[in-house]
Amino acid sequence: MKAIGVFPGKPGSVHLAEAPAPTLDQVPNGRGVLVKVLRVGVDGTDKEINAAEYGAAPPGFDYLIIGHEGFGQVEAVGPNVTGLAPGDYVVATVRRPGHSIYDLIGTNDMTTDSTYYERGINLRHGYLTEFYVDDADFIVKVPKGLKDVGVLLEPTTVVEKGIFQAYEIQRRLKVWKPRKAAVMGAGTIGLLATLVLRLRGLDVTTFGRTAKPYLNASLVDDLGARYVSTKDISVGDAAQQFGPFDLILEATGNSGVVFDAMQALGKNGVLVLTSVTGGERKIEVPADKINLDFVLGNKVMVGSVNANREYFELGVRDMSQAELEYPGWLGRLLTDPVKGLENYQELFRKLTSPNGAIKVYCQVTES
Ligand code: BGC
Ligand code: ZN
Repeated sequence: MKAIGVFPGKPGSVHLAEAPAPTLDQVPNGRGVLVKVLRVGVDGTDKEINAAEYGAAPPGFDYLIIGHEGFGQVEAVGPNVTGLAPGDYVVATVRRPGHSIYDLIGTNDMTTDSTYYERGINLRHGYLTEFYVDDADFIVKVPKGLKDVGVLLEPTTVVEKGIFQAYEIQRRLKVWKPRKAAVMGAGTIGLLATLVLRLRGLDVTTFGRTAKPYLNASLVDDLGARYVSTKDISVGDAAQQFGPFDLILEATGNSGVVFDAMQALGKNGVLVLTSVTGGERKIEVPADKINLDFVLGNKVMVGSVNANREYFELGVRDMSQAELEYPGWLGRLLTDPVKGLENYQELFRKLTSPNGAIKVYCQVTES
């Protein structure tokens, strides 16, 4: 079967690979689910893997099948699988268990291991192929009504985890009633964070670099949130005007913005960091001032990566609510489809020079 692969460690090696078709008996205990892939989204992680900055092939292979934002349809299930049947729409989680105590209790997203096992990223094949098989524990059912937008579930889970963790942490405050939130970045993650925070009833200010008019800014406006271009107004000034921010989610991919966000955070606030920044950038910051405000304001900052099954289930619920509350909004994020695995070059061209694209994805099979 066809697949999109890379040779980890070799920059620009993305290619069409011929991979062995998976079978149900590769999963022990009759718990296998065989999935036909319909759509797979790509993001910065795929770019980094193809640039050989990240990623490893599974044992016994010299290539890695990429793609971790999958969406597919169940083809067959093993004898001990309940709750899933052929024809169901599904999304698989990304990280598989390692060895730390967090993995042992099923919270692989919180592993303290130094090695990650992530499908499509590190040591496990991904979903940019025709079929995959996995244990039912890692397969999440998506309602039929979400079939056109289900490919957005994995990026949504990144946001769900970050925001859920923020609320968990804020239980320290006994009476936390967040009113105002900010989102740094208006790419796919920033937009989805804006959505989830609006669904939680918060007043949301979303920051981006691009000046209006701009599709991403209209998407923010259409959620009843506020788009602010940092070309027009600084983060600090906007915080004066629209803050204090009780919760900030950072998703720009630019580590420097973290320090702007720290300074824009209100007293008792929580700042969630989600940008995976591969570089080695150094910047100068007003360290005394930032530290003082954090101490005097009892502020919290937390990093958040990956997402466990519970956040996929939360994502399904929020995406369903989004379709009722803001009909058609999620679909507008799906700007750049590329038909067929064999068009992997076009997929990567769109990913590396986005030209206004929000979500670039491969339409592997027609549903
Ligand atoms: C994925 C996460 C993953 C992270 C680090 C992100 O692009 O969405 O699932 O944990 O990369 O590899
Ligand atoms: Zn990703």
